[in-house]
Amino acid sequence: MRPPHPANVDAAVERIRAVLGPAGCLEAAADVAPYLVDLRGLYHGATPLVACPASTNDVAAVVAICHDLGVGVVPHGGNTSYCGGATPHEGGDEIVLSLRRMNRVREVDADNFSITVDAGCLLADVRSAAEAAGRLFPLSLGSEGSCQIGGNLSTNAGGLNALRYGVARDLVLGLEVVLADGRVIDGLTSLRKDNTGYDLRHLFIGAEGTLGVITAASLKLFPLPRTVETAFIAVPHLDAAVKLLGQLRAATGDAVTSFEFLPRIAIELVTHHIPGVGDPLERPYEAYVLCEVSTPRDDLALRALLESALEQAMANDLVLDAVLAESLAQRDGLWKLRESVPEAQRAEGASIKHDVSVPVAALPRFYAEAQAAVLALVPTGRLVGYGHVGDGNLHFNVSVPMGGDAGEFLARAPAIHEAVHGIVRRYRGSISAEHGIGRLKREALAQHKGAVELDVMRALKDALDPKGILNPGKVLPDPEPGP
Ligand code: MLT
Ligand code: ZN
Repeated sequence: MRPPHPANVDAAVERIRAVLGPAGCLEAAADVAPYLVDLRGLYHGATPLVACPASTNDVAAVVAICHDLGVGVVPHGGNTSYCGGATPHEGGDEIVLSLRRMNRVREVDADNFSITVDAGCLLADVRSAAEAAGRLFPLSLGSEGSCQIGGNLSTNAGGLNALRYGVARDLVLGLEVVLADGRVIDGLTSLRKDNTGYDLRHLFIGAEGTLGVITAASLKLFPLPRTVETAFIAVPHLDAAVKLLGQLRAATGDAVTSFEFLPRIAIELVTHHIPGVGDPLERPYEAYVLCEVSTPRDDLALRALLESALEQAMANDLVLDAVLAESLAQRDGLWKLRESVPEAQRAEGASIKHDVSVPVAALPRFYAEAQAAVLALVPTGRLVGYGHVGDGNLHFNVSVPMGGDAGEFLARAPAIHEAVHGIVRRYRGSISAEHGIGRLKREALAQHKGAVELDVMRALKDALDPKGILNPGKVLPDPEPGP
């Protein structure tokens, strides 16, 4: 793989202008600015041009020009990435490729339980289009009003319903992808079965635009849930939450759709920083679970099943208190509480984030060990470990000590990451369960993956993008310098 050629950037800009015209090119500083900073403000890049193609052919033309001239292309969705995967480098020699104008729902096929959409569709719009046809597209994230489906697939997003429906990868039937040289793979089938050789779609899902640009996807739909019950449950500790998960899955006929863990501090941050969100229970507890059970049937018995399972868990000291949503508004309020945790943590000041997963049963041991390791490094750091316990994925974040110096705190980040990721490795867990690698975790990936896996990843990159123009410097760690 050869590095891109920055000297050719001006020529690329000129040729892209000619193909896309003014409507497809953002060049003024104010127009380009939002594409240069990632959501967390970790990276501040530069670019001479944000290309905004309106069709797959346009994407192919832009990528072909960049390939021809050896210029880097940075695919950009809703810019909700936590790892800087969609932000160009500082040198100003990469073209940003925004998919936002490609936002058409191409087809909803209710009988086939499938939907085909452009990559730039907002996740919320994909969900609404499915719902209008009486179907569910189950991927659900706090950022669904701004993230784009192409970004969700490129990062293999997880979200709030992965426990029941799987992650983004599990929801894909077919993809349309522009390759590094501008050729297009038209894999937009909506088949459930297709054993005709290598299944290429999985190469591009989770590759963060480093192997090809996803321009459209055919996705699985499900029956719409007709009965949904939402409970906010106080638990004594994470161990109890994990045991409760097993009991609720069994008692409800595996109807648990979401199972989100929240420590007390998460409730305090949200109620402090986010207007209109209150503590659903009368007194504070150490920890909580937001649990949703649902079924596509009209099932009056589901609530009773949930209540009696919770009563039994209470008798066994796994549950301390609980409230069930009585209305849609109450349900929305409980979800707002959960979904506002990242925003509230941001408002509280600097934080050091981990997006880890371990086997569900190992979560309590992982949590205790990682907590001890973090507190040994920053004794007054505030641990905000929350998230998708139902699928083993914790956002094991640490907020700056109360009144502490952000710079001093953030200087401890490498040591904290190393300690937490070391424990993750012992559990054969993942250092990026759902947020991807981007630019942020390339070095961590080098530690986490075996040499053979890294070799195969590099071989794939070399085969699909020999000039290294697709999202340069993302995902793959730099090779070790030779002897
Ligand atoms: C979440 O589950 O809230 C998100 O993945 C964001 C986060 O890391 O905080
Ligand atoms: Zn999450």
